[in-house]
Amino acid sequence: MELSERLRNVAVVGAAGKMGSGISLLLAEQIAFAALEDKAGTYVLSLIDISDEGLLGLLRYLRAQALKTAEKQINRLRRLYADRADLVENGEMVAEFVHEVMLHVRTGKTLDLAKDAHLVFEAAFEKDELKIDIFRKLADVCGQSTFFLTNTSAIPINFLAKESGLEGRILGYHFYNPPAVQKLVELITPTQCSPRLSALAAELATRLGKTIVPAHDIAGFIGNGHFMRDGLHGIGEVERLSGDVGFVQAVWAVDRVSRDWLLRPMGIFQLIDYVGIDVFQLILSVMRRHIPAPELHSDLIDLYLELGVKGGQTSSGAQKDGFFRYEKGKPVAVYDPDRRQYVACEPEGWCAQVEAMLGAHPDTTMSWKALGRDRDKDAKLRAYFSRVKQSDTLGCDLARRYAAASRAAAERLVAMGVATRPEDVNSVLTLGFFHLYGPINDYL
Ligand SMILES: NC(=O)c1ccc[n+]([C@@H]2O[C@H](COP(=O)([O-])OP(=O)(O)OC[C@H]3O[C@@H](n4cnc5c(N)ncnc54)[C@H](O)[C@@H]3O)[C@@H](O)[C@H]2O)c1
Repeated sequence: MELSERLRNVAVVGAAGKMGSGISLLLAEQIAFAALEDKAGTYVLSLIDISDEGLLGLLRYLRAQALKTAEKQINRLRRLYADRADLVENGEMVAEFVHEVMLHVRTGKTLDLAKDAHLVFEAAFEKDELKIDIFRKLADVCGQSTFFLTNTSAIPINFLAKESGLEGRILGYHFYNPPAVQKLVELITPTQCSPRLSALAAELATRLGKTIVPAHDIAGFIGNGHFMRDGLHGIGEVERLSGDVGFVQAVWAVDRVSRDWLLRPMGIFQLIDYVGIDVFQLILSVMRRHIPAPELHSDLIDLYLELGVKGGQTSSGAQKDGFFRYEKGKPVAVYDPDRRQYVACEPEGWCAQVEAMLGAHPDTTMSWKALGRDRDKDAKLRAYFSRVKQSDTLGCDLARRYAAASRAAAERLVAMGVATRPEDVNSVLTLGFFHLYGPINDYL
């Protein structure tokens, strides 16, 4: 069955979650455009989730996003609606497109909705038992020709395939957050995979405007394989520095260096807060279960969670407190587990002392934002890191140690066979984590 035929009946399980809603949006729009071009066809997108509230929110989200897409693609809509004499104004076409998107969508809480689906996307919680249970039920409910794409970011696909009896019909299709925006899809092809499914996965990526990076089927794949080790290095640095400078000062310093000295979009603790401290712990535990890696563990992460400090996002996308408390999206205080409270940054007090301790930034004209679109980025990065290399400030020392650990984590992924080539790790970090440069480089 061709991709265009499979798109006639698609289901998303876990559709109301962060990833599920983005995947649902991508598919809903694809299907609406396909239906407009193939007026005789019947198109169904079944969006399944256990949360009623989540499904209502999802419908609102789809409507709002479809409106934005329609406004951006008004010329395409003018062509598609050329035969519709009743649609004259742009606003009428926009409203009609939103209607078209919603027309093919049906929502529900039971997996039976996926019965006739030719293609099922799964984006439920990252738990082995839950995903296996879902896939076993889907194996019963769906036809023999249905293909399954899981968004797991850590669980080996061979394991899921074997446990659920879906060998040959399932692969890892790991979108990045948010799926509608991020260009990267990490593709994990298990040992027994139908060549038709592999071909379809590649064709789908082209259709959705995504870049595929292949990863081998080892827990955590490339993205989390690197992120978990990168995060644990940051935590290790805090533990190393805390005795001398204090815990909150160490968290502030390591976060600042990992953002501003390494020219990344976020510091490491802000990133862990963004993903969720609970999700970070969950991924570590999933990885430990599937690969011999006892070092993928952190007492500090366990302690934060025992104290109820979780990070993550609210349903409206606002950042919840984690390592940091946030105001207008910016860290303003650090959680101190000993005192069980947040310690506010004092710009004239301890925060200034941290700055003094780190020493001057190597070049304040260089930032992630400034270099993002700079055509001369490579040369500027080279010159910048040569200053980092030569400086003896604590900030530059921490930056060099961080870059070396990040590179070691990346090289380990290649050595373990998770990534085939260094370039693949670099692509995941630049495309999926928006880094300016890959960890395997010759800057330092
Ligand atoms: N959040 C990220 O940044 C990110 C990035 C890449 C991949 N992932 C992966 O995507 C998947 C989903 O993550 P998320 O962050 O969107 O999680 P989430 O918690 O936001 O969403 C999970 C959704 O699954 C639903 N769900 C739970 N049990 C279900 C069931 N039995 N049937 C149907 N729906 C069920 C929940 O109600 C929820 O809406 C995970 O495998 C995760 O590892 C997440």
